[in-house]
Amino acid sequence: MRKPFIAGNWKMHKTVPQALELVEELRGLVEGEEGVEIVVAPPFTALYPVAQFLKGSVIKLAAQDCFWEEEGAYTGEISPVMLADVGCAYCIVGHSERRHIFGETSQDVARKARALLDHGISPIVCVGETLEERERGDALKVVGDQLEGSLESLSVEDMARVVVAYEPVWAIGTGKTASPQQAQEMHAYIRQWAAEKFGGDVASLITILYGGSVKPENIQGLMAMEDIDGALVGGASLKASSFAQIVKGGKG
Ligand code: PGA
Repeated sequence: MRKPFIAGNWKMHKTVPQALELVEELRGLVEGEEGVEIVVAPPFTALYPVAQFLKGSVIKLAAQDCFWEEEGAYTGEISPVMLADVGCAYCIVGHSERRHIFGETSQDVARKARALLDHGISPIVCVGETLEERERGDALKVVGDQLEGSLESLSVEDMARVVVAYEPVWAIGTGKTASPQQAQEMHAYIRQWAAEKFGGDVASLITILYGGSVKPENIQGLMAMEDIDGALVGGASLKASSFAQIVKGGKG
């Protein structure tokens, strides 16, 4: 049985005081919830204070990106060593905003995923097609190529520690969610891809999240689908009340 997994991607939101206010409220609402992995991904500047506050909490910490080198002359970058040092259990990589605004490629994502795994951090690897690609009938091919490029060189043991997030670009921040059936079709395809590359055992064990306008109102319909194990939540994770409702709805 895969454990439900709800992660909040705060993107470029929240100063340190605002971040602490949010996790304090969230902790009050979800502490004691069992049988669900609860993760927050604050911006880099808030990771350390949030980590200190979350000591002993069920809520786990994620970063939103990283570079693949351990240290060196890479102005502006943050390494997996630094993320492990502040207590990140997870790190999002290959988010569509990174791919589209910052030109990140699946090859970059593969190097980041490798580096994170080497430092004991589970990558949350994002994939997803644009509206144009979906309308052209290319959604499965685009996602398949992203999976190949980002994950194919991992070992079976490494793959078992990866979380995949399917986030159709047209559903991110737009208020348009993929229907549970549309999302399920892609999630089943992702699990099938993993089965072919890494074997059925790993494929049945890995967590596959859906992301794109997830709200308290639509989480249950999505979670009812066989291959949807959780959600990567953007906008609705910025308020403790809505994120806590998604956690509770996701738990079923
Ligand atoms: P959204 O963002 O929930 O605001 O659509 C999801 C994401 O980008 O991870």
